[in-house]
Amino acid sequence: FYSDDGESLSRLVVSTRLGSSAEVYLYGATVTSWKCGGKERLFVSKQAKLDGSKPVRGGIPLVFPQFGPGDLPQHGFARTRVWTLLSAEEHGESVVVNLQLKDNEDTRASKWPYKFDLLYTIDLTETTLSTIIKYENVDSQPFSFTSLMHTYLRVPDIASTTVAGLKDVAYVDKIKGGTDLVEERDEVTVEANEDRVYVNVPGVVTVRYGDESIAIRRFNFKDIVLWNPWAEKAAEMADFGNDEFPQMICVEAGTVASEISLRPGQTISCGQILTCESLASSNL
Ligand code: BG6
Repeated sequence: FYSDDGESLSRLVVSTRLGSSAEVYLYGATVTSWKCGGKERLFVSKQAKLDGSKPVRGGIPLVFPQFGPGDLPQHGFARTRVWTLLSAEEHGESVVVNLQLKDNEDTRASKWPYKFDLLYTIDLTETTLSTIIKYENVDSQPFSFTSLMHTYLRVPDIASTTVAGLKDVAYVDKIKGGTDLVEERDEVTVEANEDRVYVNVPGVVTVRYGDESIAIRRFNFKDIVLWNPWAEKAAEMADFGNDEFPQMICVEAGTVASEISLRPGQTISCGQILTCESLASSNL
């Protein structure tokens, strides 16, 4: 149930006996495909670089240890490092992939010089994709970080896509600015370049289109980032097609408005479970 594509293993393709599948690049441990109910659920740009020359524009890039711009390159270094494949195994009707990333000379020479050990577990069942990172501080000093799963969901049309679960949540609008913003809508729609950080989101966030939905359940991740570049931002990105923005929405689970802190020897596991649901069928 996994394959390599060349001299050195660069990606895994895993599938369950119940028909779902996923593809994972070791570069960034980026999940680039999740098929469930016979359909692709993740968006990857046709212009995405899949040769390790830049972060993958789509799928689920991992942001660590810095969200956004800062001392490190944008979104940190985890999405541009080659992770180590520890295992890929079938367990009954599910498939579990484990990948690892540790500090090395380069990360220790960076502005975030700590010793860390990340274990990334991707668990695929018939209707769910769960992605969990166990973060461990293996340094002799405490450290803090922000982290996020930058999930690009594929949608048939952004115009008829809604996001539920954000009502009454405070947010930061990275495009328009403003203070004391609170989401008032039950069903959030996106109609322009949108880049928002919803802070301390309490429960399940559900992306709906047609008679289908993707539910996003999180644990130990506090925030949700909502992003769509729309036409003008898309045109500025070399690795994003000008006409692709209606086919995607980023709903990103992470802790980015505050930091996660770990003492030496301490660990925390954070993750998301994406569930593919259909109103038309009872088993999806
Ligand atoms: C989002 C940020 O998470 O990622 C946006 O909120 C950013 O500000 C977007 O533009 C894409 O980032 P990048 O580095 O992959 O182009």
